[in-house]
Amino acid sequence: MKGIKIRGMGRCVPERVVTNGDMAERVDTSDEWITSRTGIRRRHHCTGETHTSLCAGAARAALERSGVSPEEIGACIVATVTADNLVPSAACALQRELGLPGDIPCFDLSAACTGFLFALHTMECLLNASPRKFGLVVGADTLSRVTNWDDRGTCILFGDGAGAAVVECREGWPSIGAELGCHGDERLLRLPGVESGERSLISMEGTRVFKFAVEAVPWCMDRVLERSGYTLEDVDFFVFHQANARIIDLAARKYRIPPEKYYKNIAEYGNTSAASIPLVLSELEDMGRVGPGSRTLVVGFGGGLTWGGCVIEFTDGRV
Ligand code: UT7
Repeated sequence: MKGIKIRGMGRCVPERVVTNGDMAERVDTSDEWITSRTGIRRRHHCTGETHTSLCAGAARAALERSGVSPEEIGACIVATVTADNLVPSAACALQRELGLPGDIPCFDLSAACTGFLFALHTMECLLNASPRKFGLVVGADTLSRVTNWDDRGTCILFGDGAGAAVVECREGWPSIGAELGCHGDERLLRLPGVESGERSLISMEGTRVFKFAVEAVPWCMDRVLERSGYTLEDVDFFVFHQANARIIDLAARKYRIPPEKYYKNIAEYGNTSAASIPLVLSELEDMGRVGPGSRTLVVGFGGGLTWGGCVIEFTDGRV
């Protein structure tokens, strides 16, 4: 089995910033409540941008960073639950926008906030069966379009954005060792589809999902460490899905992870669903906090319910 490493990340978020103060003008809430309960201060919402334009912006940045051309891509997966259209998929739209080859699989993957990790694992499998060595994995969501503005418990949480990774697959590299799981339960976190006849708006039992997340994160971390054989000390950086700063801080405290080894950008973006993890990775790469030679343990959880974790390494084409 060949393994994948990230060759370059990219990201794209809408220009419009919505502050907690803006939220308080729309629903019965306050900056103090949102900040103390979630860690969120701002989020970005689409106005002129589309899901496709966010994906394209992030993907172009990742291709440029990685030095890989669109013609070299062997497969494209977009993890999302809010594509502009069900058909054509976001990945097909991206293929057209970027001029990706016509003889490669391009498709969307639905695993909510864990989507990027499901997509990385799927990409590793695909590239193992492909003569091409590069893949494009995008996590993108525009949850502002499916926000229920009558529900102050959820509307303050979500932001829009896209993050992309160009990955490379090589003989001799270790697998990312993804540990993924699902538990079908539509009561806890739901976004109705066309068949339901309902308007497609998000609903969530926040406290119960919080409880699930607090248990899922260490469960995933332990499974990933056990499978990979790495210890906590072998990991250079920890990346968590940005759903709530308190969930991240609880995990960091439980594993005694020092502040310089994990990162939160939820204050700026809110919960961006499938974009959350690649947005973090892209910012960390820009800051030089992850890159070739470093090992990152990534954990995500979300609607489905879904959860997952894996170990990510970076390459500059030499290591
Ligand atoms: O990414 C997918 C996975 N999602 C998650 O991981 C989200 C996990 N859940 C959470 O992050 C938290 O449960 C929330 C941030 C969504 C909610 O925080 P909470 O501490 O669980 O609050 P709660 O829902 O228990 O509500 C506590 C109180 C309630 O008022 P009463 O009944 O105590 O009077 C709510 O009505 O806070 C009230 N409330 C608000 N007050 C001001 C709920 N939302 C708001 C609000 N502003 N926006």
